[in-house]
Amino acid sequence: MTDDPRWAAVDEYVDGLLVPSDSTFDAGGLPAIQVSAAQGQFLFLLARAMDARRILEIGTLGGYSTICFARSGAQVITLEVSPEHAAVAKANILRAGYAERVEVRVGPALETLPKLQGPFDLIFIDADKETYPQYLTASLALSRSGTVIIADNVVRDGEVANSDSDDPRVQAVRRYIEQLAADPRVQSTVIQTVGNKGYDGFAISFVR
Ligand code: SAH
Ligand code: DHB
Ligand code: MG
Repeated sequence: MTDDPRWAAVDEYVDGLLVPSDSTFDAGGLPAIQVSAAQGQFLFLLARAMDARRILEIGTLGGYSTICFARSGAQVITLEVSPEHAAVAKANILRAGYAERVEVRVGPALETLPKLQGPFDLIFIDADKETYPQYLTASLALSRSGTVIIADNVVRDGEVANSDSDDPRVQAVRRYIEQLAADPRVQSTVIQTVGNKGYDGFAISFVR
């Protein structure tokens, strides 16, 4: 899949007009795989629109999406396996002024998730893709009627529609979507996205 140059040009145009620039954010040398600025603003707007009080994030990296959620006014718990990533995130969260609103829990999410007390209003799944099906099960256990669960990177250049893909991340994301389809507790969709991060998408679910 070759990215169309218009995708990044539109992000640049939109970011300049609509997305607050986070000049204090420091990627700290970590891989630049955080949500795009426009997507981060979407997450902020969703949390705002829902008036989310408690947000759970699985996969912190440097805290970029974490800070978008904290900006909405919610309390955020974010789970990160890498102590190095967590340290970068904590510094960014402190600089952004949200240290009291955000808790970074370090460890494999499958170990930290069972220790959490639900319910959360909004859950953002964005860690290792191979584990998305288990993260969905754990997220549903931490949900109430009305919780929104979002999973990042479920389109993967369109590979999600390729049942023969030999990429374990694609196969896990497919299981995630099939789990949504089979679970009467959720109403869901997938929204494809293009932009400066290429062609990907979010799965969005509402817990009845
Ligand atoms: N949500 C971030 C990006 C997260 S990138 C943003 O948009 O700003 C994915 C993160 O998940 C990485 O930091 C990676 O270290 C972390 N991760 C990978 N496997 C994990 C696991 N088993 N438990 C918790 N975090 C994990
Ligand atoms: C990549 C992008 C992501 O949003 C993510 O969560 C993990 C990896 C990537 O582009 O490799
Ligand atoms: Mg992601």
